[in-house]
Amino acid sequence: MVPALLLALALFAPLAAAQQTGPLSVECLGCICEAVSNCNRTLTCSGDVCGLFRITWAYWSDAGKPVLQGDNPGADGAYARCTVDPYCAALTVQQYMTKYSQDCNQDGQVDCTDFARIHRLGGYGCGAPLDPVYEQKFVTCINHVQTLG
Ligand SMILES: *[C@@H]1O[C@H](CO)[C@@H](O)[C@H](O)[C@H]1NC(C)=O
Repeated sequence: MVPALLLALALFAPLAAAQQTGPLSVECLGCICEAVSNCNRTLTCSGDVCGLFRITWAYWSDAGKPVLQGDNPGADGAYARCTVDPYCAALTVQQYMTKYSQDCNQDGQVDCTDFARIHRLGGYGCGAPLDPVYEQKFVTCINHVQTLG
């Protein structure tokens, strides 16, 4: 799927709204969900991950337990309700990255490549090798959005 097309569709609004809440651009959020789930917003919870960003409970907790409006972080199911919602999931990613932002690949800048690494590898040890399928999807997407300017 062409990321630009995807971003122009229904996912654009929630990701764009989440752009203001942390260091990731809408393109960066789009390429991370593309790499991790093809940005499939119908994904619910399976195994220990939920939603289009495939977020674990520990990740959501480290992000400060963001919730849907009117929900309570301590309530049963608050984690799943947030992480299957595109805006709340993107907000979770933003808050996680605000906390763990770092130059994983030691190239002198903190950018989307670092955020993609932190998303997959966590806040500690994000310089480790990435799963090649995830890395390839991410690189293809980010190169594509960069050529669009
Ligand atoms: C999205 O995920 C659902 C649930 O796993 C699946 O049935 C569907 O085929 C997926 N859609 C795409 C476009 O991958």
